[in-house]
Amino acid sequence: MSDRKEPVLDEVRKYHREASPEREFIPGTTEIWPSGAVLDEEDRTALVEAALEMRIAAGRSCRKFESAFARRLKRRKAHLTNSGSSANLLAVSALTSHLLEEAQLKPGDEVITVAAGFPTTVNPILQNGLVPVFVDVDLTTCNATADRVAAAIGPKTRAVVLAHALGNPFPVAEIARLAEEHGLFLIEDNCDAVGSLYDGKLTGTFGDMTTVSFYPAHHLTMGEGGCVLTSNLALARIVESLRDWGRDCWCEPGESDKCLKRFTYQMGTLPAGYDHKYIFSHVGYNLKATDIQGALGLTQLAKLDGFIEARKRNWRRLRDGLDGVPGLLLPDATPRSDPSWFGFVLTVDPEAPFSRAELVAFLEDRKIGTRRLFAGNLTRHPAYIGRPHRIVGELTNSDVITDQTFWIGVYPALTDEMLDYVTASIKEFVAAHG
Ligand SMILES: Cc1ncc(COP(=O)(O)O)c(C=O)c1O
Repeated sequence: MSDRKEPVLDEVRKYHREASPEREFIPGTTEIWPSGAVLDEEDRTALVEAALEMRIAAGRSCRKFESAFARRLKRRKAHLTNSGSSANLLAVSALTSHLLEEAQLKPGDEVITVAAGFPTTVNPILQNGLVPVFVDVDLTTCNATADRVAAAIGPKTRAVVLAHALGNPFPVAEIARLAEEHGLFLIEDNCDAVGSLYDGKLTGTFGDMTTVSFYPAHHLTMGEGGCVLTSNLALARIVESLRDWGRDCWCEPGESDKCLKRFTYQMGTLPAGYDHKYIFSHVGYNLKATDIQGALGLTQLAKLDGFIEARKRNWRRLRDGLDGVPGLLLPDATPRSDPSWFGFVLTVDPEAPFSRAELVAFLEDRKIGTRRLFAGNLTRHPAYIGRPHRIVGELTNSDVITDQTFWIGVYPALTDEMLDYVTASIKEFVAAHG
């Protein structure tokens, strides 16, 4: 069998080289995407190898990825999921587990988050019958601040769920300290920030749990995929149960009786000795990833350091190139942080002699892709109107983001030539409207 596999994989490598010729950059014609997967020969080969072996469910590549990724992100446990949104759903749902006893979150409990963000950072709060408490963000970092979070803490507050916006860390050490002082759980949505540092420490290592997305726009990709990481073994066990149908047993598929007690449990009102593999201690889901995703994750992970460096380099080139351009508010790294950037965010000054829409239309016409800072002010979307929530302070900056903000790409496939064309195009537009 293996005799036949190697020649197939050699053909795949050749195919990759032929199917991926160097693209010449033609300004105004070649699309400059805001984000995208960066996939090489090894990635394609790993995908085909997993397919050849028909590893179609979660299996050894997923397990290998989970342990390598946990080590890389300095957490004890990682659980792969089918998306970053599922990872957020699992992390928040885990806080409602009866296994947490008095610490368990109950319907009506409040969770602090930001109004300007990605919907599925917030949705699991509502999906679990909890109440989101929205605070505003700072305009140059697009993140919550510790004082805004502190002002939002009330008698029903039990947790804080925040994303590191576009790779830029929120002041996570201060917010983790606040959470500790007030007995709150902290979940870091690290979907956009793998490799970012705050006080020299990786984001995702300050809170109780952290989540990652492997959608193609992100630092690593599996096509679709995500991960929940934690060093709290009790939370890890709950996440696993919720991910895997709610079962109580922790044997991997294909394994059985790792605890040597498979037929000795008595739980609920089940008969004694009921097979532990089929005892359910949570109202769970099935949010697992497949081994084909795991195989791609492993080859992508080997390139993570290079991806992070390229994102930082690209962000710096745009930041230096656009410095001083009038009418634009440029992004800044949060003090004490070293971001692994997801995108380069720009806010058009409301007083500028041009609008965000005009600038975006100009760039898109030149094939320079732009994206919104996700939902802008979430509370203004149809999905959230009429839902239980509390707003603390004014959402002024979230509204500015809704009206005036967009972001452009820094992902590793962008070349200096492309980035310089982006900078020159923005300058040309601004000069023409001066
Ligand atoms: C901050 C943040 N959280 C969560 C998600 C959801 O991840 P996924 O698309 O894998 O569901 C995203 C997606 O881009 C995101 O940017």
